[in-house]
Amino acid sequence: MKGKGEMDSACGLPRLYGEFAQWWPVLSAPEDYAEEAEFYRRIVLSHSTPQARTLLELGCGGGNNASHLKVTFDCTLVDLSTDMLAVSRALNPECEHHQGDMRTVRLDRLFDAVFIHDAVAYLTTETDLKAAMETAYCHCRPGGVALFCPDWLRETFRPLTDHGGHDRGGRSVRYLEWFWDPDPADTTYLSDMVYLFRQSDGSVQCEYDRHVCGLFPRGTWLQLLAEVGFRPLAIPFEHSEVAPGSTDVFVGSKPCEHA
Ligand SMILES: C[S@@+](CC[C@H](N)C(=O)[O-])C[C@H]1O[C@@H](n2cnc3c(N)ncnc32)[C@H](O)[C@@H]1O
Repeated sequence: MKGKGEMDSACGLPRLYGEFAQWWPVLSAPEDYAEEAEFYRRIVLSHSTPQARTLLELGCGGGNNASHLKVTFDCTLVDLSTDMLAVSRALNPECEHHQGDMRTVRLDRLFDAVFIHDAVAYLTTETDLKAAMETAYCHCRPGGVALFCPDWLRETFRPLTDHGGHDRGGRSVRYLEWFWDPDPADTTYLSDMVYLFRQSDGSVQCEYDRHVCGLFPRGTWLQLLAEVGFRPLAIPFEHSEVAPGSTDVFVGSKPCEHA
């Protein structure tokens, strides 16, 4: 068993995406993503010319967003964790899946849209963030769009405690998540998580997991997107359970070749 705060040794990720990946759909249920997926769907369609039909998601995780987006788009899904890809394959068997790092993966194909949801939080330096934007640019056709969805911006981050979980197929998860920022001068914050995993026989396992996440000012996002070649735009995130002004999503439009 791994020690307190130790990352998954297979790929340097939090334990949730390795040894606990099979618990993902019980911790974070696909149906909870319907409203935000609709927000992303509208942005992708309204910022792509002609309207997008193919979509590449980098950092798809368990495929919860994709389970909604695949109704509109032909989705290709990439994640660093083979364990999370297995979860997404079970939920989205009709989608193509690839193991890869969003900073370096090259599928040598173009898509109408590239989507990076909350997985972008695991990029903690400007160098890594720009590398993921370059990956998005390489895979986006001219006239297409890239959409990036950070949980927080440097300007909007607030310490917070959250909790949640679900009951599914006889198993249950409850978690506590504690967001805090030990050094407001750097580009990271922490999410310390405690999970209670309850099996169908009633036994309960308690585990701790530290997520080290990136935090960048709005201006950095816009500047890096422009540097890789996108026309950048910040759009306030809208969701019935999220206070207005909590974060922005970032759209990068790839200019048409004749523009
Ligand atoms: C919170 S989960 C994503 C959940 C996803 N939004 C969904 O709809 O199910 C974060 C994912 O980011 C992935 N990830 C972290 N760093 C990555 C990287 N550099 N490249 C690709 N995937 C990465 C992790 O393996 C994990 O599966």
